[in-house]
Amino acid sequence: MTYPTIRPRRLRASEGLRSLVRETRLNPADLIYPLFVVPGNRIKEEVPSLPGCYHYSPDMAVAAAAEVYEAGIPAILVFGVPEYKDERGSGAWDQESPVQKAITRIKAAVPELIIVSDVCLCQYTSHGHCGLIGNGCVDNDPTLELLAKTALSHVAAGADIIAPSDMMDGRVQAIREALDAAGHTQVSIMAYAAKYASAYYGPFRDAVNSAPQFGDRRTYQMDPANAREALKEVALDIEEGADIVIVKPALAYLDIVRQVRDTVTVPVATYNVSGEYAMVKAAAAKGWIDERRIVLETLTGMKRAGADMIITYHALDAVRWLRG
Ligand code: PBG
Ligand code: ZN
Repeated sequence: MTYPTIRPRRLRASEGLRSLVRETRLNPADLIYPLFVVPGNRIKEEVPSLPGCYHYSPDMAVAAAAEVYEAGIPAILVFGVPEYKDERGSGAWDQESPVQKAITRIKAAVPELIIVSDVCLCQYTSHGHCGLIGNGCVDNDPTLELLAKTALSHVAAGADIIAPSDMMDGRVQAIREALDAAGHTQVSIMAYAAKYASAYYGPFRDAVNSAPQFGDRRTYQMDPANAREALKEVALDIEEGADIVIVKPALAYLDIVRQVRDTVTVPVATYNVSGEYAMVKAAAAKGWIDERRIVLETLTGMKRAGADMIITYHALDAVRWLRG
């Protein structure tokens, strides 16, 4: 049977009908809001490359986290900007660094809010790479111990979920073992499993001052041309103990989100990264797009592609718009 008996437009005739047959729904409960923590006190400064997002000192991060929780967003993803950098990135596991302090204060003030903490060395190393430099390269194995140490310091501060973003081989296993050995068997790992070497991270690197001082990240982050390799990375991370896997970036990689969702049983997150956000904000500021509609359409597309949750700088705006 076909036209004129079949008329798909029948089910589009009113908002009630469209709502009844809607296949994908975006909910505040799907979102994770990134938060940037900087040294100091009483600081809330807009990030130039991410308009509408702020640098918070640990004391000010508490109010921001409470606002996220009250908006119905279940989780934040915290990033730290350190007071000092060195060759090994030792600020990453310094219990007195801004992000550790902020995690402790947020957990005390808003205990129900899930704190996901990004674990990496690039904000903390003087060279800006995500691992140690040795043997003329970003040296995988000696880095693992430092990532595990960093994860432990975040958990000691109060983090609920550890999110390693460095793309070293074996880091999920190293972190899982360290957590378990310390008795933190209930702390989850949300692994940046398929993380591509992407130009879309530019505004983020400006925000946290983490651009590599030489070379690039292509020896550890994935080649944007590869899809099968993403499935391999995801499978390895799950084997090593990842509870949730992330595909990152989101927009140019929605096919990867779909393939991963169809392949694994663990929850899949996607990261609507800084460059994706900045492009929308820039075009909206020019009056060239309808920001509200573009954002809701984009996030819905990510869910439709198979993402169970979305890390996004738009989270607070999106929730406001979803509530009408
Ligand atoms: C650190 C890290 C990056 C992002 C999240 N964690 C940058 C990078 O790998 O260079 C990117 C987030 C974004 O662009 O929004 N490894
Ligand atoms: Zn990094």
